[in-house]
Amino acid sequence: MPEDPLRVAIIVGSTREGRFGDTVARWFTTQARQRGDMALDVIDLVDLDLPMVYPATAGPAVEAYIERIGRADAFVVVTPEYNHGYPASLKQAIDLPRAEWREKPVAFVSYGGTGGGLRAVEQLRQVFAELHTVTMRDAVSFHMAWGLFDSAGQPHEPAGCNAGAKTMLDQLAWWATALRTARAADEARLEGTTAPCHA
Ligand SMILES: Cc1cc2nc3c(=O)[nH]c(=O)nc-3n(C[C@H](O)[C@H](O)[C@H](O)COP(=O)(O)O)c2cc1C
Repeated sequence: MPEDPLRVAIIVGSTREGRFGDTVARWFTTQARQRGDMALDVIDLVDLDLPMVYPATAGPAVEAYIERIGRADAFVVVTPEYNHGYPASLKQAIDLPRAEWREKPVAFVSYGGTGGGLRAVEQLRQVFAELHTVTMRDAVSFHMAWGLFDSAGQPHEPAGCNAGAKTMLDQLAWWATALRTARAADEARLEGTTAPCHA
């Protein structure tokens, strides 16, 4: 592990009872961990107790969640497809932070039925553009996902998806490094100014 590894938050978007998302997330987390250049923070929304109602004031659970987003240099969103979109749990989790997403890269691992979650990913690209993030061109997707993993949670045919994860994480690492450097340079420049110039 490098001295200052890239801090990557893996966001598990499904909170559905009986979900398949944890299987996909576990496989992906193993792939990311094997690289050795990333410090991972798995943010599983099912564990967070985020409110359904958008709060006027952030409570402790929301504050703690926003801090974790703020600490990350990059994100991987693990999303299913529900009715050609992404789950409501994920939208609330995206909308609660704001500046904490800014100028950071986002990658996607998707899964679903015939859509493989790709329609959810296309919608998420629009949403993340509004938050001034950059989304990775390459994603990993699993069509008819439940048939692609064995009972131990391992893909029946790991070569393709493992290679896809590597390609995507290489892109994410490039952008995370570039944008971390750019953010640091920007902070140094702003320290030299007498008046705040970022709204
Ligand atoms: C409410 C709902 C809507 C769904 N809609 C779609 C869909 O539009 N396209 C698709 O490919 N799969 C669809 N599916 C199948 C899911 O993508 C699949 O069940 C997946 O495992 C759901 O993720 P989860 O188990 O982690 O919640 C839907 C599933 C649910 C529960």
